[in-house]
Amino acid sequence: SSTTWRRASRRWSGARARAASTSIPSRAIRFVRTAPSVATSVRRWRRRRPVPESWVPTDEQRAAVEVAGSAAVRAGAGSGKTAVLARRFVHLLRPDGPVAEVSQILAITFTEKAAAEMTRKIREVIADELGGADAATRAHWARVRRDLLGAQISTIHAFSARVLRENPLEAGVDPRAVVLDEHESRTYVESTVEAALLAHLRAGDGAARELVLRAGLAGGPSGGAVGLVADFLARLGRTGRDGAWLVAATARQAERVPEASEALRAAVARLVATIDARLAQAGRGRGAQALAEAWPAWKERLRRLGPETPLEEFLELRSLRALLARASLASAVEAELAVQPGGRLQGTLAEAYGMLRALPENERLARLIAAVGDALRARKREDAVLTFDDLIGETRAVLAGHPAVRERYARRFRAILVDEFQDTDRVQAEIVRLQAVGTPAPLVFVVGDEKQSIYRFRGADVSVFQDMRAELGCELPLGTNFRSVPAVLDFVNALAAAILQVPPGGSPSHWTRFDPGQRLLPHRSVAGPAPAVRLVTFVDEHDQRELRAAEARELEARVLAGVVERLHAEDGIRYGDIAVLLRAFTEVKTYENALRRRELPYYVVKGRGFFQCQEVSDVVSLLAAVLDPEDGVALAAALRSPLFALDDDTLWRLAWPPGADRPSLPRRFRAAEDFADLPEQAAALGAVGDLLRGLRALAGRATVAELIGEACVATDFEAVCFAQFQGTRKVANVRKLIELARDWERKRFFTLRDFVRTVRRMAETEPREPEAALVAEQDDVVRLMTIHQAKGLEFRAVVVPDLGRGPKLDNRMPALD
Ligand SMILES: Nc1ncnc2c1ncn2[C@@H]1O[C@H](COP(=O)(O)OP(=O)(O)O)[C@@H](O)[C@H]1O
Ligand SMILES: [Mg+2]
Repeated sequence: SSTTWRRASRRWSGARARAASTSIPSRAIRFVRTAPSVATSVRRWRRRRPVPESWVPTDEQRAAVEVAGSAAVRAGAGSGKTAVLARRFVHLLRPDGPVAEVSQILAITFTEKAAAEMTRKIREVIADELGGADAATRAHWARVRRDLLGAQISTIHAFSARVLRENPLEAGVDPRAVVLDEHESRTYVESTVEAALLAHLRAGDGAARELVLRAGLAGGPSGGAVGLVADFLARLGRTGRDGAWLVAATARQAERVPEASEALRAAVARLVATIDARLAQAGRGRGAQALAEAWPAWKERLRRLGPETPLEEFLELRSLRALLARASLASAVEAELAVQPGGRLQGTLAEAYGMLRALPENERLARLIAAVGDALRARKREDAVLTFDDLIGETRAVLAGHPAVRERYARRFRAILVDEFQDTDRVQAEIVRLQAVGTPAPLVFVVGDEKQSIYRFRGADVSVFQDMRAELGCELPLGTNFRSVPAVLDFVNALAAAILQVPPGGSPSHWTRFDPGQRLLPHRSVAGPAPAVRLVTFVDEHDQRELRAAEARELEARVLAGVVERLHAEDGIRYGDIAVLLRAFTEVKTYENALRRRELPYYVVKGRGFFQCQEVSDVVSLLAAVLDPEDGVALAAALRSPLFALDDDTLWRLAWPPGADRPSLPRRFRAAEDFADLPEQAAALGAVGDLLRGLRALAGRATVAELIGEACVATDFEAVCFAQFQGTRKVANVRKLIELARDWERKRFFTLRDFVRTVRRMAETEPREPEAALVAEQDDVVRLMTIHQAKGLEFRAVVVPDLGRGPKLDNRMPALD
């Protein structure tokens, strides 16, 4: 059957290649091809080399570098925190200093890239020391420089892996255990959680059924029941807890049932009394009249109110509340019964009812999560697998459970330095704390800025930094910013003061506040006549006419390209010194197209670039359609892609043939049919159907790699890719995808489903470690990157588009307290 398709597709492949490449304006090709000659890139590389660390520290910086005991530095962006950390590393190693050997310092950075950067900075500071050293100390610094090769400067994950390796017996982890990276871990966990949930469903578990009915099994914005449970387990793990803890915590809630029942009864009594009293007063208006008529029925309902009252019925209290408002009684019952702008009920009545009503379900859910957690643990042991989170969790357990191990590290490390501490989670902080014991205890030095905490979704928690600062008992500021010009800092200070506040009713320990002491003070003086901060708004355009989101972005992208062009032409800023920082890559194509139309050279810094490539996602769409015959979105994506190159009109007519009651694409490919309604494409469509069914049959017995290979051959995909813009790279990417599938299959737990899920997630999620490190680093091109990727980097001009996009809320937590 695939031969039929192959024949049909041959005829098309030329057309398909043309269709795909016309979407790229030919002008674009010109600038992409003008790569700089070797000579110029070498020169540029020299110019772009980081400035040596031979500046003079400020008094504050010196105080931090030389502080005698343990300390925390809390200071804003660009104030030299990382620089101070590097200098302190060297300072501790001075001839009469507290640390004798390089290997006695543990330095923790946020990424591997930052670790390399840290080593480079330290090497430069040592070079400085060597330069100024007398004959007596020269040998000392020369030895320090040599020993730097063996320095323990790494991420917390890499350090944890080392601790587990060094203590196999105590850690009780299988020495053959495979360590999965962040994304592999997530896939592994999800597929195990899914299997466990399905087992619970089959066994008739009510909690599993309720959860799946409400959230779906998997997928969707919340990740479905699988995503919710996996997230919950991850969060428990990151706070050093497990399912048993959750069950116990929920049981403690149950102890509060009598109290909540009493609160509910009391709230009803107060409400009834207030309303009775008011209605007894003479002189009623129209509102009070209406209330008086309805009141006896409501009063009866209120009396019957309890945890067994259905939610829908409870929510009807909104109409009672409306009646009360019309009778001018809203404020009198405010404490018991209030409604938020969104319609959410508030007050003691809702609180007590909510608590009583949720409790049984919470208990069932807690037991379910604990059971799934146990299943996951058992499977990991069986497979001899360690997830990314396990590295941290197991390391904490080894250090906490084995005083001898703990003391060995505490003795080995005379100093522990941690950069970007605001992004540390509770368990990671515990690992640091556990080693900071003994006499004399290692010197701990952490630096951070809670205003820059960006990994909340990974469990980073600003209160962890707060607690550590309090424990260390010495908090040092760095007031001067060395990165930006005064006007930029004025702007940032004003903005931060306006938005970083504790909201009314919020707890100060959960919100990042901006106090005047955190203002960034400029070191640099004013540079150039151009304004430092420009704000471009589309509020007027929006007021004049209703802009659709896509139109608005299109407009914004055009303006952005204009701004970049002016920065270059009028302000004389090199393209390579301009960065466009996006919150996410979802809409990056729009900005790319606008830059391309103006022939501005750019480069998209993609952390997981490979997974975001069109050809990779096309193949994955096809696999998803093979995997799930009902996945219409994946099917449509595959059919539109150069794999099949169907146009939108054909797709539409295909999905909604005459006489059908609703559009459905999958319906057309379930069984063989003649596509009589689309006579011109009938043969090709029949071949598509044959291929899909053929691949589905194959999926059961072939490996993922074989499946991709077969799909590519049948569609002549490589030939189509070759004919496109940057075709060689596209073909290389498809081959790499096949390689990757093979590699994952060697880890034996990857099914087609896992594969599709993992690749999709890798394309969607933010990399912790930008993988393809600035390929075009030396080139003079504008860089498009995410704000996360830009962490710690410096540019002359930064454009931040898409500020109208609201932050994506992370509400993946079920209502469990
Ligand atoms: N005292 C100083 N004099 C001149 N430049 C400095 C000084 N302190 C830091 N810098 C420079 O300022 C920039 C920001 O420093 P960095 O350590 O990256 O800040 P942070 O980690 O606080 O964001 C770096 O380029 C660094 O070399
Ligand atoms: Mg830094």
